[in-house]
Order: sequence, then structure tokens, then C-alpha cells
Amino acid sequence: MNVVILAAGMGKRMRSDLPKVLHPLAGQPLLAHVVDCARSLGAARIVVVYGHGGDLVPRAIDGSDLCWALQAPQLGTGHAVMQALAHLDAAGPTLVLYGDVPLIRRETLGRLIAAAGSDRLGLLTVELDDPSGYGRVVREGGRIVRIVEHKDADPATRAIREVNTGILVAPTAALARWLGALSNDNAQKEYYLTDVVAAAVHDGVEVASARPVDVVETLGVNSKAQLAALERAFQGRLAQRLMDEGVQLADPARLDVRGELTCGRDVSIDVNCIFEGKVDIGDGASIGAHCVIRDTRIGAGAQILPFTLIENASIGARARIGPFARLRPGTELGEETHVGNFVEMKNTRMAAKSKANHLSYLGDTVVGERVNIGAGTITCNYDGASKHQTVIEDDAFIGSDTQLVAPVRVGRGATLGAGTTLTRDAPEDKLTLSRAPQTTVESWQRPAGKAGGKPAGKP
Ligand code: UD1
Ligand code: CA
Repeated sequence: MNVVILAAGMGKRMRSDLPKVLHPLAGQPLLAHVVDCARSLGAARIVVVYGHGGDLVPRAIDGSDLCWALQAPQLGTGHAVMQALAHLDAAGPTLVLYGDVPLIRRETLGRLIAAAGSDRLGLLTVELDDPSGYGRVVREGGRIVRIVEHKDADPATRAIREVNTGILVAPTAALARWLGALSNDNAQKEYYLTDVVAAAVHDGVEVASARPVDVVETLGVNSKAQLAALERAFQGRLAQRLMDEGVQLADPARLDVRGELTCGRDVSIDVNCIFEGKVDIGDGASIGAHCVIRDTRIGAGAQILPFTLIENASIGARARIGPFARLRPGTELGEETHVGNFVEMKNTRMAAKSKANHLSYLGDTVVGERVNIGAGTITCNYDGASKHQTVIEDDAFIGSDTQLVAPVRVGRGATLGAGTTLTRDAPEDKLTLSRAPQTTVESWQRPAGKAGGKPAGKP
């Protein structure tokens, strides 16, 4: 089978410099959703007709399996399909999809293809309470005889509520013949793809129709409001699937998945979480409210507390992260680690049962097992030119408000006193500290205020 995806239109109502089909839905360009659907049908040829936005469109979409056909100028949907003809394999039928109709499903297209068989023209149609703007499906004795565009329709035809979704499938050689005979003698002076219906009927080719599983599949994006509505429809579908698989969502309307989220058993997700890229959550893990998690593996039983941001990381089983933690790329946390509030980590490995519970920055660091990192610990990993590594071995204890000036190593079981600025390696099992000795100045007196005034600093 061939699939032609129409994606040349300009999308004026988006009021954007970005070509319409590149606007993201669930983190992927609209067109990428349609291309994925075409691939899921096992199409031998997928031809994308592009035009508005020029090369931006082919450059934004992955796929050596795609053919690109330029349509310039854009003279209508029929003219658009004509640009793809040279790439089509005449042996199989051709399915026409729209780059700005992103929620179309494989099951629906399967029905349409089955209805058309090998020798009929198949149209995907829907009934709408308000059909205005759409092409109307005209039937005589129950059989489809033609489509009339809204702008060309008389009042009686405008009263028809069955409309053309634009999606159709046709035998390829016949389609090429019908397209070759199109004229643009109509209200919009365009070559209408929809005129192939009357041409088929004229040739004695039967026109079959199918209905989508859900009307939302046939909705196009013409404005930011429609894009937002389809985003919610997409997310709603996905939330339903996660719940069917056993995931507990605090509120299915407050979840955003922009990529691929896989969850084990008994996973719970609180409100307003965003998952991007590939995220895998293990059995029994819980995600608190307002977390953003991207390209990350979360181990079984881990708890991610609210307002945590995690990117490109892996979190061990039964770890407890957040609230307000920021784990940047290259963070790898072992089992039962604790990373608390206002802790930032980057390119840091922390082994099992280690803790950094408060207010710390650990960058380019390797932390062993059972290490305790006190509040306010900072690895000074950057000297202004290069990044250096800090190593903290098993069972070390890092006192609060410590700076580790990398490259530096804290030996196994070492203790660093609070307030230490560590510039040389700290030996195993010893207390190391750098601290100005504490003194009390007996003779000191707080300066008095102006005549009769209170001492400075007292209200
Ligand atoms: C089209 C159908 C109409 C149907 C409606 C469903 C025609 C003549 N009419 O109307 O029956 O009810 O879709 O939404 O087909 N495009 C190109 N090149 C062009 C023109 C359009 O690639 O020269 C692409 C657009 O980018 C868009 C799609 O084709 O993705 C549909 O074009 P649009 O102008 O929106 O079609 P409608 O007038 O809405
Ligand atoms: Ca139009």
C-alpha cells in the first residue's frame, strides 16, 4: 500500500512562523504522529507532500523510509496528491492522510481499507451537528455519488450532516486517471481531491465509506485552540490506557506524557506531572505532584516527592528523592539513596544507602555506599576552564557547609568537619577539617548609636 500525507498547507490561523505540521502535540510534530500511523499500517511507500515552510518540514521529520514531494504553488488537495503520483507503486492502493489530522488511528484506517477492498474508492466520513466548512457527502439511493465543498454547496446540500473527513483510499492507477482529469472550475479555483468521487461514480467504480472509532480522530488543527484541544484528547486517551494497565493517576486530566511512559504494577502518579522522552517507572514507585521527569529509569518502590525535576538519570529501588530535588543528566542513584530538598546533582553516581538530604550541589562526583553528605555541601567541580572529579569513598561523613575543591578524594570512612574547604585528599578513617580557630574578643564593645540612641543593630 501507498500512503500520501498532505502537509503543504500554510496554516495561517496558527499565526506562527513554524509550519503548521511541525507544531508539537505530545512533544512530537503533528506530522510525526501521522507518519507513525502510516508506518503502523506497514505501508510500502509513504510520500509526504510539503510546500509551505520549505525544507524545514523534511528536515524536522526522521525517516529514510519517507519520500518527499514538493508542491509549489499549492493549488488544492487534488493538485497536492498529483505531486506524489510519481512515487507511488501502482500495484497497491493509495491512502490519503492529512499532516494536520494527528489523532487518526490504525484501527479506523483498517476499517476504511477493508471497506474499499482492492477495487472500490473508500471514504472516511462522519456525521456532524454543525457540518459547516466541510465537504458534504451526497448520496442517492444510499450510494455516495459525489462530494460538494461547503463553498460550492446550495442550501439543500449544506443541510447534509454527513461530511468528508478528507481521508480516502483508492486504487492507484484509477486515482491517477481521475486526478489527471480534474478541473479547478469551482468557488475556490482549486483542484479538489474530492472531485475524484464523482469521477469514480462516472467510471462505474463503487464508493464505500467507513466511520472512525471516535470523531476526534478526524479533527484537524487550524488554530492554537484546536491544537490545545487535541493535545488534551491525546493525553486523555493515554491516561485511560495507563489506568487500564493499573497505574493510579490522582487526576487523569492533569497528566502530560510527551514520549513513552512505561509503568510497572502499583505505580501511582500525583497531579501535574510531565513525562518526556522515554521514562520507565518500576513496580510500586510513586511520583509526587508537579514533577518533571525526562528520559529516566525509576526503580521499584522509589518515592519521588513533589516538585522534583529529573533528566537523563537512573534512580535505584526504594530511593527517596525530593521534594525540590534537581537531578541533571548522568545522575545514577543506587538503592535506598536519599536525595532531599534543594539538592542538585549532575554526572554523579551515588551508591546504595548514601544520603544528601539538604541544600547541596554534587557535580562530576562518585559517592560510595552509606555516605552522609551534610547540608550545604558543594563540589567545586569547575575551575573556570575544565571540570574535575570528586570521589567520596564508602562510609565517609561530610560535615555541613563543606566545599570539596576538585579534583579531590575523601577516603573510606573519613570524616570532614563542618565548614571544611577541602583542597587535598582526606585520608581514610580520620577527621579532616580546615577551620579558622574560634576566638572570643574579650575587649570588644559594640559601637554605640548617636547621642542617646540605642546600640546599632537593636531595634
Ligand atoms: C478538505 C476537503 C473537504 C473536507 C475537509 C476536511 C477538499 C477539496 N476538501 O477541505 O471536503 O471536508 O478537508 O477537513 O479536499 N493541502 C495541501 N496542498 C494544497 C491544499 C491543501 O497540502 O494545495 C493540505 C493542507 O495542508 C491540509 C489538507 O491538505 O493538511 C486539507 O486542506 P484544507 O485547505 O484544510 O482543506 P479544506 O478546505 O478544509
Ligand atoms: Ca481550503
